Amino acid sequence: MEGAVDIRWFLPCPPAPINTFEALTGPRADPIFQDMILKIARMGHPVLSQIAAPVPDPRVPEIQRLINDMVETMIDANGAGLAAPQVHVPLRLVIFQAPGERADPGLSEDERFDHTAPLTVLINPEITVLDGPAEGGWEGCLSVPGLRGWVERPAHIRYRGLGADGQVIERTARGFHARVVQHEVDHLDGRLYPGRMADISKLIFESEIRHFAPAG
Ligand code: NI
Repeated sequence: MEGAVDIRWFLPCPPAPINTFEALTGPRADPIFQDMILKIARMGHPVLSQIAAPVPDPRVPEIQRLINDMVETMIDANGAGLAAPQVHVPLRLVIFQAPGERADPGLSEDERFDHTAPLTVLINPEITVLDGPAEGGWEGCLSVPGLRGWVERPAHIRYRGLGADGQVIERTARGFHARVVQHEVDHLDGRLYPGRMADISKLIFESEIRHFAPAG
């Protein structure tokens, strides 16, 4: 329903399990160095407007370190996704999660599979739009703090890229899962969600979202 509050955007992401970093990238080479919380670029910074470069080799230590720091940063900021340009690194690397709490209620087990994703690292991603109409939803962005915007995007996609271990990840996605992946990959091409909005009057402060609540 257009304009209705989609509370999935407001639910905090559950904290990642303690062993998340090791699960994604293997044991830390040097446990003395903690993962760092990185500074997030905000709308207007040129790093958010440029086309990011492909990652030549995901397995080099610099990229593993970047992934660990981005996960730490995303969790600290309570985000659902983060793209490397948002932490001032213009490389084609995103992280995201689509927890079950954000999936549409009433889905079958089969359907839920496409709607949810664990914490995922996607390097050099490519998106293919599959069948189905575009779907509207409220989006937020750590680079556009305090705001929400109503954005229409394809509701069913396939994406492909490399994981932190260099292995191919290929999945289909729907719902919030499809939305968060498209939002993050847009960052790699210098696009923020306000640039995807058809009706800029639906760019609002998140504190005012109640005015868009469905009747009853
Ligand atoms: Ni964003």
